[in-house]
Amino acid sequence: MTADTTSQRTFHELCAARGTAFPVLTERLTLSPFTAADLDEVWEYWRLPETTHWMSRRYEAPEQLCDRWLPQGSKFTVRLRTDGALLGDVGARLQDGWAQQEAADQARGTQVELDWTLAPQHQAHGYAREAVRALMELVADLGVRRMQAGCFAENTGSWRLMEALGMRRETSTVRESLHRDLGWQDGVGYAVLAEELPARH
Ligand SMILES: CC(C)(COP(=O)(O)OP(=O)(O)OC[C@H]1O[C@@H](n2cnc3c(N)ncnc32)[C@H](O)[C@@H]1OP(=O)(O)O)[C@@H](O)C(=O)NCCC(=O)NCCS
Repeated sequence: MTADTTSQRTFHELCAARGTAFPVLTERLTLSPFTAADLDEVWEYWRLPETTHWMSRRYEAPEQLCDRWLPQGSKFTVRLRTDGALLGDVGARLQDGWAQQEAADQARGTQVELDWTLAPQHQAHGYAREAVRALMELVADLGVRRMQAGCFAENTGSWRLMEALGMRRETSTVRESLHRDLGWQDGVGYAVLAEELPARH
């Protein structure tokens, strides 16, 4: 059983309600909620076909991306601490967990769908791992119990990232997902419970 309902509250709103301080700092990176002021820099890599090759959708113009991301309230920019250069973005979309009708209220906003995108020139430096690990810790700190994500099976970079982060492969589908250029493709789904995250130092 899968839950694909979007919670009424966004993850950004949850952060604000709990007083999360931004930017979140890691050894090399900063994470901050995406705002319209970030759009021009984000568009530099989101406009590239190699960035969106495996993505759910392409955007024709930066305004489309902004119109989707701002109400979604789930995206964070990932920047270098040293000079503030934008490396990419990560996201945590708050969702309701699947529940029987009578228990549905208790399942609201109990899980997130994670996502990640790095500009091509910033891949293979471990930045995605560092950024998503910090995002997962934030999600756990805010009391969200489960994190999940999925990708095309051929998107090796994405599922290797999930495995490096300790996520568990929970689903494996056969020619279930239609790619705009490649036809029907296999898919993989990963998840981890907040209580399963490695202890922090
Ligand atoms: C998915 C995606 C974010 C993964 O990015 P990535 O750069 O490969 O991931 P990381 O930042 O964790 O880098 C890991 C690699 O950096 C290398 N690396 C270099 N320095 C490192 C460090 N200090 N720490 C960890 N890894 C380091 C590692 O060798 C590792 O490569 P390996 O897995 O072959 O061993 C990236 O491919 C992407 O943006 N793709 C396009 C968008 C996309 O498809 N998103 C997902 C849609 S479902």
